[in-house]
Amino acid sequence: MIRGGFFLVVISACFSITVSSVINFKHNAEDTPVKGRTWDQAIAMAKSFVGNLTLDEKCSMTAGIGGPCAGNVLSVQRLNFNGMCFQDSPSGVGDGVLQSTAFAAGIQIAATWDRDLFYQRGAAIGKEFRGKGVHFALGPMMNIDRNARHGRNWEGFGSDPYLSGENAFGYIQGLQDQGVVGTAKHYICNEQETNRNPGFLARKNKPNPNVNVAYSANLDDKTIHEIYLWPFASSVAAGVGSFMCSYNQVNGTPACQNDRTQNQLLKGELEYHGNIMSDWGATKSGVPSALGGLDIEMPGGDGLMGSSLVQAVKSGAITETRIDDMVTRVLTPYYLLEQDQSYPSLDLDRDAVGDNYKINRQVAAAGMILLKNTNNVLPFNVTKDKNYFIYGSGGQSDDGLGSGGWNGHPGALYQGGGSGFVDPTYGIDPLTSLMEKTREAHLQIRYVLSHTDYGAINGSFNMRGFNTAKCLVFITAFSSEGYDRSDLQPSENANQLVQTVASHCTNTVVIVNSVSQLNLEAWIDLPNVVGVIWTGMPGTEYGPALVDILFGDYNPGGKLVFTLAKNDADFGTDISPTMTSTYSEGVFLDYRHFDQNSITPRYYFGYGLSYTTFSFSKLDISKINNKNNPIALQYWARRTRSYSNFGTAGLYEPVYGVTFTVTNTGKVAGSEVPQLYLSFPAEAQEPPKVLRGFERVYLGAGESKQVTLVLTQKDISYWNTANQKWTVASGDYTVRISTSANNADVKLQSSFHE
Ligand code: BGC
Repeated sequence: MIRGGFFLVVISACFSITVSSVINFKHNAEDTPVKGRTWDQAIAMAKSFVGNLTLDEKCSMTAGIGGPCAGNVLSVQRLNFNGMCFQDSPSGVGDGVLQSTAFAAGIQIAATWDRDLFYQRGAAIGKEFRGKGVHFALGPMMNIDRNARHGRNWEGFGSDPYLSGENAFGYIQGLQDQGVVGTAKHYICNEQETNRNPGFLARKNKPNPNVNVAYSANLDDKTIHEIYLWPFASSVAAGVGSFMCSYNQVNGTPACQNDRTQNQLLKGELEYHGNIMSDWGATKSGVPSALGGLDIEMPGGDGLMGSSLVQAVKSGAITETRIDDMVTRVLTPYYLLEQDQSYPSLDLDRDAVGDNYKINRQVAAAGMILLKNTNNVLPFNVTKDKNYFIYGSGGQSDDGLGSGGWNGHPGALYQGGGSGFVDPTYGIDPLTSLMEKTREAHLQIRYVLSHTDYGAINGSFNMRGFNTAKCLVFITAFSSEGYDRSDLQPSENANQLVQTVASHCTNTVVIVNSVSQLNLEAWIDLPNVVGVIWTGMPGTEYGPALVDILFGDYNPGGKLVFTLAKNDADFGTDISPTMTSTYSEGVFLDYRHFDQNSITPRYYFGYGLSYTTFSFSKLDISKINNKNNPIALQYWARRTRSYSNFGTAGLYEPVYGVTFTVTNTGKVAGSEVPQLYLSFPAEAQEPPKVLRGFERVYLGAGESKQVTLVLTQKDISYWNTANQKWTVASGDYTVRISTSANNADVKLQSSFHE
């Protein structure tokens, strides 16, 4: 039986306290055009449709066809089926269409640590896909940031599987509540671009058919379950309709024909009933892929699947039953989300942006991270801080918004490159917003954006006003799908620029606009570098969001979703230049690795400052013993949809409520992100601690809130390779509530026994 198909009554009104234990989004019925069907209902409808198709039609539906979208599924007019459109990307409707919002990227929403925003951003993106009549969104992207140099880290949710899984969950339900099918990608272990498809040009849809072998990600059973499969499992639980298999091989077999990952893990163990589509050009074979679990080849047209499977059925190489299963899976999400009922007609350029700039601005600001703030140089005080000297090409956008997104360019970055890039309708860069602030607050701005014109840069240090100025240095790091970064340094020799400015300006604030990890060591300890704001990949509301933070209209509260190391080698993992990438670190990735090896990073995973201060008190851990426990009821009410699929193993049952109080002890409103790190008994062979809960808590000055974080059965289990089950270890578990992965930041600690 598939869990789901019912809604529980929201019981938050019964609480005299604020319990922010789970995805606490506002579920506004007006905003959710779709109530959805259950998987059982949708499968039955898809089967009945497939029953009316000829063998030719069925086989043709196992591959994409040419058409207006990135991927197109055959229409069958005699059955009133108009086909389906699959379109990029995870951060807005992409592939060069007009009139869509270039949202703050995956790495930015993750850095908000705000479940409410995970959902709302997903819903906003869903509205645009739906508004244009697109059936499947080719996102979210949830490959783990295993390699700091991976060109696609900006599309994903960082280095932690639990945080990635919660992001995927919120995004998918936001999107699918709008009736748009989500696609969990890239399944699985696509943690680098190098050799992902040799000969496949950086630009998509130009595969080299002569080169058919990609690198192999080689890893063990515990590691795949506990790290790389985790967010995909959360996606299945959320109810995602579609998966995209990746270019790489896994343990020596192409991901798109991998029986172990597709049939056994995904369709078997995770009880997934939707389809698997191939990444574009990732199908390496016809019948072996279909038997290995692939349901639809994209973009099609190379003769591997589609109508060429007719002959395979006739020769007995594949059964018609499997073809029926493939097509049923392709169509099930269409019925699941009621796309058979009054779905908008397709028009990729239709204006569907609505007022999504508002949520985009909110996510941009919420995902910015205050890394350094010596003597509270920030926020600037407009009555005292009058002069601003701006340096660095990253202050201004100069790509004319038409780069197509694949190539690096100087200037402010809204998103990274590749199929994940959305051509923006507009973009407001930092300099533009600073100019507006200057006009409004009677400030003075001077700027030199060149990184090479040291005549002008040095000249600025002698200008009137410089001796009292705040200096902002904008630095960037770009990356793209198709290739990995060569290093973790900023572009255009920006370290030298920061050093030069900081050697003259006692109030230097560095603004870091980076796709993922960056090495800050060239200047981070300079005494004149008094402030650092990590702006991430903030989307087209970059300027307004940053100015709100600089001048205190928004109190920063974003947190790092990866560790920032002092030495690049400290990560212990990197892109493999060969055809094999061995995940020999096992489950010891990122902060788990730094912990295990006692390596001190520059900034810890989960770290980020605020303009206010917080205190923590009253930690209580309560066992959830029955289904009527109010915490359990609220948990299910918020996470259950008609289409959700929590499986039959009970892994997502809440088993503990961890309650504590957070107080804003400062003078301004702000937010903190309590993070629950769990330490397992020895039997589990886990890293010293793993993230298993968080909530972004917004508090007025002096305000307190009680927070409850839920631990599920899966959260307290490890993957037992011997019995092939998630298993609760016997012994004491330690619960730490912390504000980062730094043990010095632990605020509350307790334990429970299993
Ligand atoms: C990318 C996918 C994308 C697809 C369709 C591929 O190159 O890896 O993420 O969805 O193209 O554009």
